[in-house]
Amino acid sequence: ALVVRQRMRTTSKWARAEAILRELEDKCSTPIGKLRQVADAMTVEMHAGLASEGGSKLKMLISYVDNLPTGNEKGLFYALDLGGTNFRVLRVQLGGKEGRVVKQEAEEVSIPPHLMVGSSHELFDFIAAELAKFVASEGENYHLSFGRQRELGFTFSFPVRQTSIASGTLIKWTKGFSIEDTVGEDVVGELTKAMERQGLDMRVTALVNDTIGTLAGGRYYDSDVVIAVILGTGTNAAYVERAQSIPKWHGLLPKSGEMVINMEWGNFRSSHLPLTEYDQALDVESLNPGEQIFEKLISGMYLGDIVRRVLWKMAEEAAFFGDTVPPKLEVPFILRTPVMSAMHHDTSTDLRVVGTKLKEIFGISNTSLRTRKAVVEVCDIIARRGARLAAAGMVGILKKQGRDAPASAGEKQRTVIAMDGGLYEHYTIFSKCLESTLSEMLGEEVSKTIVVTHANDGSGIGASLLAASHSQYLEVEES
Ligand code: GLC
Repeated sequence: ALVVRQRMRTTSKWARAEAILRELEDKCSTPIGKLRQVADAMTVEMHAGLASEGGSKLKMLISYVDNLPTGNEKGLFYALDLGGTNFRVLRVQLGGKEGRVVKQEAEEVSIPPHLMVGSSHELFDFIAAELAKFVASEGENYHLSFGRQRELGFTFSFPVRQTSIASGTLIKWTKGFSIEDTVGEDVVGELTKAMERQGLDMRVTALVNDTIGTLAGGRYYDSDVVIAVILGTGTNAAYVERAQSIPKWHGLLPKSGEMVINMEWGNFRSSHLPLTEYDQALDVESLNPGEQIFEKLISGMYLGDIVRRVLWKMAEEAAFFGDTVPPKLEVPFILRTPVMSAMHHDTSTDLRVVGTKLKEIFGISNTSLRTRKAVVEVCDIIARRGARLAAAGMVGILKKQGRDAPASAGEKQRTVIAMDGGLYEHYTIFSKCLESTLSEMLGEEVSKTIVVTHANDGSGIGASLLAASHSQYLEVEES
């Protein structure tokens, strides 16, 4: 009798787990029709965000970048990149048309988590101190023209309302950051004061979002780059817009006739998005409830945590990991996306990696192959939904640019999309799925004209290039 009862219990365990999985699959499904609705909604919101300030959840921020790098940029420049789990500093010697990037060096420092939720002063002091150390290691190999102040491109990857190319106020924090006293402040002012406190003589000549930096960096190497997408801790996109198509822009029309727009697409929201109970719970418990809904479906900060929530439900309602719920399943963000990715890419027949990670992260040992397979399936459903939605967002931009259809006869069209971010770079199944979804949505003929490239740290180089083209010494030199 005991054996029979136990067998019944296991069958119902699998049946209940199966039901949870099938419901997840159903709620997360993104058939092509739905993706088209998402792409269309993205295009509509882009128009609304460009029409008026506050016209849409899509902020469509004006970057003040109306000229992208040409290759003529010359001199020694620095860049500082703040916005993910790490922050980077970069030094580059630009050689102009012939020399291009003569020399470059970068350093990466992880940000102590307490600084992401502490005070503005502390965060900027930390950054300025690291930057000062880096500048001190410059050595003889770099050349700063006589009498010049060092100049810096500041990549600050949060929504900023710019007031010029080198100033702007923080609208809100996103991702894991939450520091109240920075909101509404000029972040260049904050950094400049911190640099002064460090005794560092340096001027910020360009303030850019990472998407803008990536677009600029991508353009330096390929003149057909017109869109940049970041898929990392957060997600966002920037693209080149016609200045006349920005009704909310009341400034002078730039000579180029163009303006780069930072969409802040992470905050996109639409009734067409496939949201589940897990997404809702994640959002409610997040640092920014109700905000960055698209980002919470797609980006590296959140994917692992969605998976954790599904596994937790399976543990609670199907006793999927045994009679008691492993307590670690209840810890927010304990399952990070790189670990999810490692499990998802496990190619061993016995899913050894999945077994090891479940043990390491959640203390769940002795899992059966069937259990491990179910875990991989959860990763698959969540990763593919994110990748397909990101592709739909990209199609929305192509539509807005009129590049989603075959060019008219005789015209040769090539569209390059510069991509960067850890999720794109390291989560292969995710990036492969994104690219195949793009082709699926665009069709064969148009797909041939679209190139997706990895702009490796394009954002750092891009920021230094923009620092160069907005140098305080430029006009003096040109006249
Ligand atoms: C978040 C930020 C955005 C940034 C993106 C990628 O969405 O709000 O500014 O570009 O993350 O880092």
